[in-house]
Amino acid sequence: MTNTLIQNINYLDYKDSNLNYFDLAVRIKKDLDAVGYIVIQNFNVDTDNVEEAGQKFLELSQLIGTPISHDGNNKIIWDIKSESKSKSFIKTYSEHSHEAELHTDSQYSFYPEDYFGLLTLKKAECGGGVSSLLSLKNILKTLTALENNKELIEILSSTDYPFIVPNVFKKSKEDKVEFNYGPILRENEIRFRVDTFEKALMHKEAICSTAQIEAYQILKEVILNNYFTQYFYLEPKDLIFINNKTMLHGRSEFSDDKRHLIRIRMNKNSK
Ligand SMILES: [Fe+2]
Repeated sequence: MTNTLIQNINYLDYKDSNLNYFDLAVRIKKDLDAVGYIVIQNFNVDTDNVEEAGQKFLELSQLIGTPISHDGNNKIIWDIKSESKSKSFIKTYSEHSHEAELHTDSQYSFYPEDYFGLLTLKKAECGGGVSSLLSLKNILKTLTALENNKELIEILSSTDYPFIVPNVFKKSKEDKVEFNYGPILRENEIRFRVDTFEKALMHKEAICSTAQIEAYQILKEVILNNYFTQYFYLEPKDLIFINNKTMLHGRSEFSDDKRHLIRIRMNKNSK
């Protein structure tokens, strides 16, 4: 990862905006479609009052879309902290503190959420935890400049790849590995996560051709070494909303286990 912090992040300072939640939600929805994300700075929360901060975050999220649960227990507000106690073999990124390479969330599910928001309560004070973003638009721009790009995009968008389902999201609690199959690129959508895909390939049950693997390797290179990737820190009270279909996000490793974010996933409301 490059250490360059590109400063053209799509910020909106809530304190100076004079927007009520309704108008703020209109602006957020507009940017989720047009830009793919927005960072609301100085969201009006007390970062020590986790309960109340979560409620305000939820109130705003309900104006943007329909919040959806993270697991079978109808949990809408999800804590993101380093969870060293988790014994799960395939941990989700919200459970560990290693680098989370650029990815989309829930790429293994039948319908990944359209949007999600992250509210920073405590940032990592160790210098780690740098956030990164890369848009599908810029991925396609880079792919299109490659030789054989048509064939490449055809494979990525019309063949089914295996995505492994993390243990906490498995339908069955038995040891059996579960996959969901589907293309990586769809209409105005990408599903991508290196470890999920590469762990899937370790299983003989996973069905994937050599041509598919080669196309994936090229895409991986394009994504993980991309000129257009933006790097920035999420500060306390920063509230970022990301379009999970058109924007990849990542985070560098951190060692400060006080880092605490909360996340809400949501789907678009039908018009
Ligand atoms: Fe994520």
